[in-house]
Amino acid sequence: MIRTGLIAEVRAVVGEERQRGKKIAIVPTMGYLHRGHLSLVEEAKRDHAFVVMSIFVNPLQFGPQEDFGRYPRDLERDSALAAEAGVDLLFNPPLEEMYPEPMLTLVEVKEIDSVLCGRSRPGHFRGVATVVTKLFNIVQPDLAYFGQKDYQQVQIIKRMVRDLNMPLDVRTVAIARAEDGLALSSRNVFLSPQQRAEAVVLNRSLEEGAAAIRGGERDARTLEELIRTRINAESSGEIDYVEVRGAADLKEVTEIEGPVVIAVAVRFGATRLIDNKVIEVGTDV
Ligand code: PAJ
Repeated sequence: MIRTGLIAEVRAVVGEERQRGKKIAIVPTMGYLHRGHLSLVEEAKRDHAFVVMSIFVNPLQFGPQEDFGRYPRDLERDSALAAEAGVDLLFNPPLEEMYPEPMLTLVEVKEIDSVLCGRSRPGHFRGVATVVTKLFNIVQPDLAYFGQKDYQQVQIIKRMVRDLNMPLDVRTVAIARAEDGLALSSRNVFLSPQQRAEAVVLNRSLEEGAAAIRGGERDARTLEELIRTRINAESSGEIDYVEVRGAADLKEVTEIEGPVVIAVAVRFGATRLIDNKVIEVGTDV
């Protein structure tokens, strides 16, 4: 595995691979790798691509009160895990390489960036869309892999790619979970043992919601209330949102008729966890 922090070196290496006829894949991450990140690499390997993983904790997507400073970092461990997973090129740029001067150019995907997580994290998705655009321009990949765990993020990236005619395919990879169902996240390390135990309620309540839909429930507000009640009953977590929205456009729904996403965000102390489930009413149900 080649490891570099330099944009010029990424361009040179990737350019050669492209010349040799290889498809180029990018797996953007902020590091502190877990099985979820590695499942994105697995998918890219399955597609026979030259896999570039970026590890960059992007300050542009953190709010002033958020956890940029204490976001977990362990580059040596990450590097070993990435190599083992089959990453071909690990790009871990220092801040000055990505942002040598203040950014005057930002990428904003309107409307779908201000619902769900966007409501409590203003500017977050502008930071994500901007850094992902930079990474796409640096690597010029044919394929980009994102986790369904960050459902809104994938929808925003897909829309950005369409709107701006970016010449690549965005692939979504299923949520990797711990044995008890908790969605893997770099932030799970911040949970106390009690919070970690309670956090299973996110997935459990989503399962309960899915079961209710299978049982015939079609009213989105009733469903949200059911999930909220469960989370409040079984955890000390503070609900940020529980919402049923259109799976493709993230628009509000009242009566569930087509594919929907049930998305939840819950705070355990300073740690904010998210999870979601997509339910294809009409096919699944
Ligand atoms: P990060 O949180 O490190 O996540 C990197 C990628 O891994 C994202 O596509 C995310 O959805 C995926 N991922 C995280 N947990 C997962 C899980 N349990 N199962 C499957 N995939 C999972 O998301 C970001 O970084 C940043 O916003 C980034 C896109 C890198 C831009 O800075």
